[in-house]
Formats: sequence, structure tokens, C-alpha cells
Amino acid sequence: INSLYGKSILNLTELTKEEFLAIIELAVAIKTNPEAYRGVLAGKILAMIFEKNSTRTRVSFEAGIIQLGGQAIVLDSKSTQMGRGEPIKDTANVLSSYVDAIMIRTYSDQMVEELAKEASIPIINGLTDDHHPCQILADFQTIYEQKGKLEGLKLAYIGDGNNMAHSFLLGGSLVGMDISIATPKGYEPRSEFVEQAQKNAETSGSKIEILNDPTQAVKNADVLVTDVWASMGDEAEQKERAEIFKSFQVNNRLTVQAKKDYLFLHCLPAHRGEEVTADIIDGTHSAIYQEAANRLHAQKALLVKVMANL
Ligand code: CP
Ligand code: NVA
Repeated sequence: INSLYGKSILNLTELTKEEFLAIIELAVAIKTNPEAYRGVLAGKILAMIFEKNSTRTRVSFEAGIIQLGGQAIVLDSKSTQMGRGEPIKDTANVLSSYVDAIMIRTYSDQMVEELAKEASIPIINGLTDDHHPCQILADFQTIYEQKGKLEGLKLAYIGDGNNMAHSFLLGGSLVGMDISIATPKGYEPRSEFVEQAQKNAETSGSKIEILNDPTQAVKNADVLVTDVWASMGDEAEQKERAEIFKSFQVNNRLTVQAKKDYLFLHCLPAHRGEEVTADIIDGTHSAIYQEAANRLHAQKALLVKVMANL
């Protein structure tokens, strides 16, 4: 039985550890033998709604559903009636009668929750202000491929307490990975997600740390991660943030604190010379392109799980 069939994936609070690991396991299987899954979603249609820019999410979801035998319809809020204020309830009900699932990238998590409540088909969060669950699936697949396990590792996230930080907290605490987050004061992850992660960690046996000292966070880490200092929607604060985040750059002064064989990840797009130096992101510890490639496999696994009763 597939407990994910027909389910919406809005964030990682609604997956069990078993479901999360099952998606990653399927992602690895699909990557190893993509031919075996060709046609699994024959005739299925995925609508994709974008209110923010995207390269990886846009192309990997569309390529993924095509490889599985289905098709995608790409929408943006400007050219649809959503951009003119049509109620989410009406959009959700109407789209539910045309397509088999919706992937949405937008600002408001509340809007995505309303979409999922009103729709009769699965809704997949392709990034919101607070969450990026699909990225975490690909990241954990990459970590698993590189390190051979997830449980018991330490991941340090340095930078803004944003959607990526929240998703690492929720995903890591679910599978038993220690998560240390270091942000400047005032840019910590939201307390509701820290609390949820702490609750998960009690069950999984992992440790959650929220710090303002990057050196301490990175100590003995197996995996180092960062993200842009100004996310989509924060563009107006870019200059101010560059100043505030200066001492949170991932560079070789910081990486010496990590384990010798540390893995570096970044969801991309990246700003070399800001959140990470070029020698680190383009260096031998970095797996950014494998990570980006895994978006395809992890999301194909997710689509199969929610759209096919396999
Ligand atoms: N990492 C990621 O989500 O990339 P895009 O913004 O290009 O989709
Ligand atoms: N935190 C970044 C991630 C981009 C994939 C943003 O929200 O813009």
C-alpha cells in the first residue's frame, strides 16, 4: 500500500519518516533504472503554477513527468485569472477537473494550504516563503549517495533562517540527522518549525541547534550547506543583508572546522563571493551538480508516489 497516493506535499511536517525514506529509495531506483518507470504516469497531467522565477524546479518537473509518460502545463499567475484576483477556491476546483496534480511555486504558504484544501488532486509545494520540500528530497538523496546513510550525520546550515533552513530542520529531524543552524541575530528560523523539529528529534534521536556562531555550527559537520542571503521576495534588502551576513560566508576559514571529508551542498542559484567562495562551491567537496541533477529523480519519485497507486 502506498500511503502517499493522492496526498498533497506542502511541507515536510506531513510526511512520516517511512514515507520520506520511501521517496528517496524510489528516487535512487528511478535514477538507476529510469526505463523501468517510463509510462508509469501515462496520460497524467501536471499543472505547474509559477509566481516566482525558476530554472531547476521548472525544467526538472516538466522533464520528469514527460519521462514518466505524462505531460505538464505551465502557468504563471500573470496570464491566468489568478493574477486578476480569482478566488483560490474557484481555481482549485476548476483545475482539479482538468489535471491530475498541481505543483505550485509562490510566496504565501497560506495560499498553498487553501489551494490544497479546496482541490481534489494532490498539490506539491515547489517552493514557498517558508518551505522547499522538493529540494530537501534531492539533497538527502545526494547525501545518502555520498555518505551511504542519513541517520547519525551532522548537517550545518549557515546563513538565512529561510525556507531552506526550515526544510532542513524538518527533514533532518525526521530521519535522525543532527542539524546545526547558524544565522545572524534576527534572521533565525521561525520558532514554530524549530519546535516541530525538536519534537521530531525526540523521536528520531537527533540534535537540533540554533546558533548565531557559524564556527560552532560547522564543528565536526559531515555536510555543510548555505543559501542566498536574500531570497526571492527579499530583493529590496539585498544590500543591507550583504553587510549583516558578511561573517556567515562559507569559506576555507570556516570549512576547516568541519569533518575532513565534509560534503558541500547549495540548492542554487548561488552567488560566488557572497554566501560561499568560488573555491568551496567549485571545489572537490562540492556536489552541487549532482544535487541539482537529483531534483529530477527525487521529484519523479514524488510524482509516482502521489499520482500512481504503486
Ligand atoms: N533550487 C531551485 O529550486 O532552483 P530553481 O529556483 O531554479 O527552481
Ligand atoms: N531561499 C531561496 C531558494 C531558491 C531556490 C529563495 O527562496 O529564493
